[in-house]
Amino acid sequence: MHLPILLSVISAITVPLVSALPSPAQSDRPSQIYKTTNNYPLPNPGNLPVHDPNILYHDSNYYLFKGGIHVPIYKSANITGPWTELGTVLDSDSVIHQGNRSRPWAPTTIHKNGLFYCYYTLSAQGSRNSSIGVATTPVIDGTPWTDHGAVINTGTGPGSDVYPYTVTNAIDASVVFDEDSGQAYLNYGSFWQGIWQVPLADEMVSVEDAGKPDAVQLAFIPKEKRKPIEGAWMSYRSGFYYLWFSHGKCCHFQKGFPAPGKEYSIRVGRSKSVRGPFVDRKGTSLIDGGGTVVYGSNHGVVYAPGGLGVLNGSEGLDVLYYHYLNTSVGFKNGQAQLGWNYLDYEDGWPVPVGGQDPTTTSAASTHALPVRSYSTIFFG
Ligand SMILES: *[C@@H]1O[C@H](CO)[C@@H](O)[C@H](O)[C@H]1NC(C)=O
Ligand SMILES: *[C@@H]1O[C@H](CO)[C@@H](O)[C@H](O)[C@H]1NC(C)=O
Ligand SMILES: *[C@@H]1O[C@H](CO)[C@@H](O)[C@H](O)[C@H]1NC(C)=O
Ligand SMILES: *[C@@H]1O[C@H](CO)[C@@H](O)[C@H](O)[C@H]1NC(C)=O
Ligand SMILES: *[C@@H]1O[C@H](CO)[C@@H](O)[C@H](O)[C@H]1NC(C)=O
Repeated sequence: MHLPILLSVISAITVPLVSALPSPAQSDRPSQIYKTTNNYPLPNPGNLPVHDPNILYHDSNYYLFKGGIHVPIYKSANITGPWTELGTVLDSDSVIHQGNRSRPWAPTTIHKNGLFYCYYTLSAQGSRNSSIGVATTPVIDGTPWTDHGAVINTGTGPGSDVYPYTVTNAIDASVVFDEDSGQAYLNYGSFWQGIWQVPLADEMVSVEDAGKPDAVQLAFIPKEKRKPIEGAWMSYRSGFYYLWFSHGKCCHFQKGFPAPGKEYSIRVGRSKSVRGPFVDRKGTSLIDGGGTVVYGSNHGVVYAPGGLGVLNGSEGLDVLYYHYLNTSVGFKNGQAQLGWNYLDYEDGWPVPVGGQDPTTTSAASTHALPVRSYSTIFFG
């Protein structure tokens, strides 16, 4: 079973679990449910409210995309902000007839051959009727984007009768390039059959061989009834592709808290091939419930971190960024904040480092590491 594995991983890296469960109606702070482990560093502040952040480093600036009406874009010369809102990717509702057409989720933007591609999600809570759409622009500052519509549909919509769109959920896109061939792959998925990958056509707005996609399953939890993995991201470093994802309950904590460790956490596996198979640090396959926890709730302050991405840094310094809830601020989606940490690699496994000094309580007096400049960035 997956559960004992999960618990042993968590108990190995945290203080003993506490068992008190809050009542769903509880509105005060249920301090019993927080992990107080200091095994993870506190976040460096990104100084922006965001859920499922996506950051693209381009031309000495950070461009941040987030879910919201027509996909808001922010810009800053520093990952700590201040952020300027540039406008939105879509200038009107998505051309795709799926979910809430004015309010896409979880965008991911990449840069390839002089064009920016923003992959966005249309869906509804708990529904597999979902689409990943894409919009492009040649100039990230100011030029209107062109909406190309759906790349894939699941549940309903054109092509949704093609396997694996018949069993998967077309949300949470990210894109990775094979280091050798340059081939682009779309990673996507959430719950149901987990995280999947399909090759993209050269024009990047459709799947190669749409009628018979060369799809592979990258991560899955076969033995549990609930399969809470989503938000896939892939990075590459020193011969390994790293498959990152969020595991657990993402949101709606104001309606109740899960058992400790069942809230969002950031997990990873790695493979020598972009197509897998991926295994975690213990050797468990990611399609058999594996995934090493890299960053979870900590210090009784940070709760349910997830929705992550990795910036490929120069000087070997990668940055893990994500959203998290601050237990002394609140648990609504709109209260999620951008946080980030540099990554060290121990035996080739990423470990977040640095971060705010836990003994200070003021965000203004943080001991953030200096922000380096990034000459390269990982796509996705
Ligand atoms: C879409 O989402 C926005 C923002 O949450 C909301 O204001 C709007 O009413 C929604 N539209 C539909 C058709 O549900
Ligand atoms: C998904 O779409 C189908 C076809 O349009 C519809 O019958 C079904 O009710 C939708 N399911 C959900 C959960 O919205
Ligand atoms: C959490 O919020 C408190 C109160 O606003 C603030 O002092 C602290 O710096 C925040 N910590 C983090 C990690 O966001
Ligand atoms: C980014 O901001 C931090 C403070 O938030 C500052 O210490 C750092 O020097 C800034 N980096 C650059 C490149 O301006
Ligand atoms: C990311 O950085 C690593 C090491 O610096 C490098 O090998 C790799 O090619 C980079 N990837 C991208 C997509 O820039």
